[in-house]
Amino acid sequence: MTVRIDYTNMLAGAVSGGIPTDAWADAQREFGATHAAVKKLRATGVLGFLDLPRDKALHDQSRDFAKRVRGTVDDVVLLGIGGSALGPLALHAALNARDWNTLTKKERRGRPRFHVLDNVDPGTIAHLMARLDLDRALFVVISKSGGTAETMAQYLIVRGALNERFGAQAREHLVFVTDPEKGALRDIARAEGVAALDIPPNVGGRFSVLTPVGVLPAALLGIKTSALLAGAADMEKRCRTATLRENPGAVFGVLQWLADTRAGRGIHVLMPYSDPLSNIAGWFVQLWAESLGKHRMPDDAGTGPTPLASHGATDQHSQVQLFMEGTPNKTVSFVQVGEHPVDVAIPKLHQDVPELAYLGGHHLGELLDIERRATAGALARRGRPNLTIHLDHADEWHVGALMVLLEVATIYAGHLYGVNALNQPGVELGKQFTYAMLGRADAGAARQEWEALPKPDPDASV
Ligand code: PA5
Repeated sequence: MTVRIDYTNMLAGAVSGGIPTDAWADAQREFGATHAAVKKLRATGVLGFLDLPRDKALHDQSRDFAKRVRGTVDDVVLLGIGGSALGPLALHAALNARDWNTLTKKERRGRPRFHVLDNVDPGTIAHLMARLDLDRALFVVISKSGGTAETMAQYLIVRGALNERFGAQAREHLVFVTDPEKGALRDIARAEGVAALDIPPNVGGRFSVLTPVGVLPAALLGIKTSALLAGAADMEKRCRTATLRENPGAVFGVLQWLADTRAGRGIHVLMPYSDPLSNIAGWFVQLWAESLGKHRMPDDAGTGPTPLASHGATDQHSQVQLFMEGTPNKTVSFVQVGEHPVDVAIPKLHQDVPELAYLGGHHLGELLDIERRATAGALARRGRPNLTIHLDHADEWHVGALMVLLEVATIYAGHLYGVNALNQPGVELGKQFTYAMLGRADAGAARQEWEALPKPDPDASV
């Protein structure tokens, strides 16, 4: 069981547009300061996500709840957005069958179907609510703050339907995942006896996949959460060292930061060569973007890289042209799976057709990996820096390890970029304007600011 990063192609020694050799050598010498700063930050208690892999009491909340409802639920519906949806979605996609909801109950080993409502598009929720058997549905409402407009709107719709159908028993079809003390969801849970699991106060949304945010849906869906947490714990331990070259999270974070600041590569692509792992790229995009895209103090400059999700080999026929020959401002990080749970042989047919004959006798897993290697080599040849994260398997252990690697990388990168990776002040104004337009009582100041904005110019419309 291993997670390994091969970063040969990030360095100028191998790739002309890579990180200058002296910058990488200096970073290894200078990493001590970044490591010490992050260690100090951890000691203040704000990096709670690092303690999650070993928080048995917290995980027992999810396991006990899942055990309690086992066999009584055919559909689990997650209501949440951003960090409260992307992690559980990534885990489900990575660790359950691709067409899970179309499998028979037996094929799902009695586990429920899974639906994620992470938007307020009316068509989506209306379609789902019309089809669900409410008698055997469980709604998992996830919100750290307990007040996010999108999630609360969905909750109100669901709650209305449950109240109408079950009256006082509506709460039996709900479980909240939220802050242990604060917020509207916690208040409702206390007042009405709705089951509620904790997101520790020192764990922010996009770092919460190993709280009940990710672990409860995983446990409900039969994912091996102990293995997930064991892989996470292993990576957390590996990422403690002050020796840069031995710390996978630091290597990823420092390389991306150097590529941006010393080689002009500020767009960071994550490209799993795997269908199940492709949603991890979506999860990473939020982690990297919301954590690192910030005003840097004291100069107040906007800073941070732009993450991009890509999917190998599919996007070789979409984005790779851009990566290969477009503006040289990107790094590409591949994720490679050593051994696929199943492999499929390509039959030796049409042996007289040269365009097909060479494929026969190979396996699809082999083809997928050869395509990744070919793309990495071609990018290197064109001076485009890239690295590969190798996972022996795409199982619970490796997924837990990969997610912690990327979380730790984000924290190190935050320090290097000089920003607070843990907040998201930039999304606040848009939220306030939404509250203002919907007439929320405490949005008076935002309403004034909204009304002072320039009105639509008829000449600027076509
Ligand atoms: O990473 C974050 O903190 C955000 O993306 C949140 O997860 C998102 O805004 C949802 O917030 P909440 O869980 O409070 O509803």
